[in-house]
Amino acid sequence: MQQLPSSLLVLPSVLSEAALSEIDVLLPQIPFEDGKNTASGAAREVKHNQQASRTPNAAKQRVQEIVFAALAQHPVVKMAFMPKAILPPVISRYSNGNTYGWHTDSPIMSDGGQTIRVDLSATLFLSQPETYTGGELVIHTPTGFVPFKGKKGDVVIYPTTRLHCVNPVTEGERVAAVTWMQSFIKDTGQRELIFQLKSVEESVGSRDPLSTEHLLLQQVYANLVRMWSEV
Ligand code: NI
Repeated sequence: MQQLPSSLLVLPSVLSEAALSEIDVLLPQIPFEDGKNTASGAAREVKHNQQASRTPNAAKQRVQEIVFAALAQHPVVKMAFMPKAILPPVISRYSNGNTYGWHTDSPIMSDGGQTIRVDLSATLFLSQPETYTGGELVIHTPTGFVPFKGKKGDVVIYPTTRLHCVNPVTEGERVAAVTWMQSFIKDTGQRELIFQLKSVEESVGSRDPLSTEHLLLQQVYANLVRMWSEV
């Protein structure tokens, strides 16, 4: 069965081969610093990784642009998560046993210019999974702990309400771009219903666009978005 509309999604190949090749050239040009510099509270204690230096750097900025554009323009991201804002991605690196223990991401974040309520977290994998050992993103879901180790170019997007961790990387190197979004729909359950309804509406519309059923689904979708969105 294909992946059903859900509040947690794995989207394959969000970055094209051309984008990945460009990023491969850019990554070695980026200086890294201790990831603790951008962690606060309890997360600081469990965060053991490196992140691209906060100092402005042309290579880092280009990687951020590529990842941001891929997410912002992705049709499923728009449909499933309705992002109002997406922060510039942070590039993180794990090697030599680096790990990020169980934590919850901050509910409010700033990037200097904008301050957002963080509704969604995203991890975009920039290393092939067979090149490192460990390093799974583990998310606590209603059915238990689910590990994710995507292919290079895949992204996992999940509600920021979820506890999660990154398992220790015991061999090789795991590079990922992580970012956070504010959605027009704050509530995870409401956002999921909207996504499911939109999926049905598009499916009916592709078969029978002028049917009464399609018109009603479009109407209900529009009015639920109107009822639940914050702009
Ligand atoms: Ni996190």
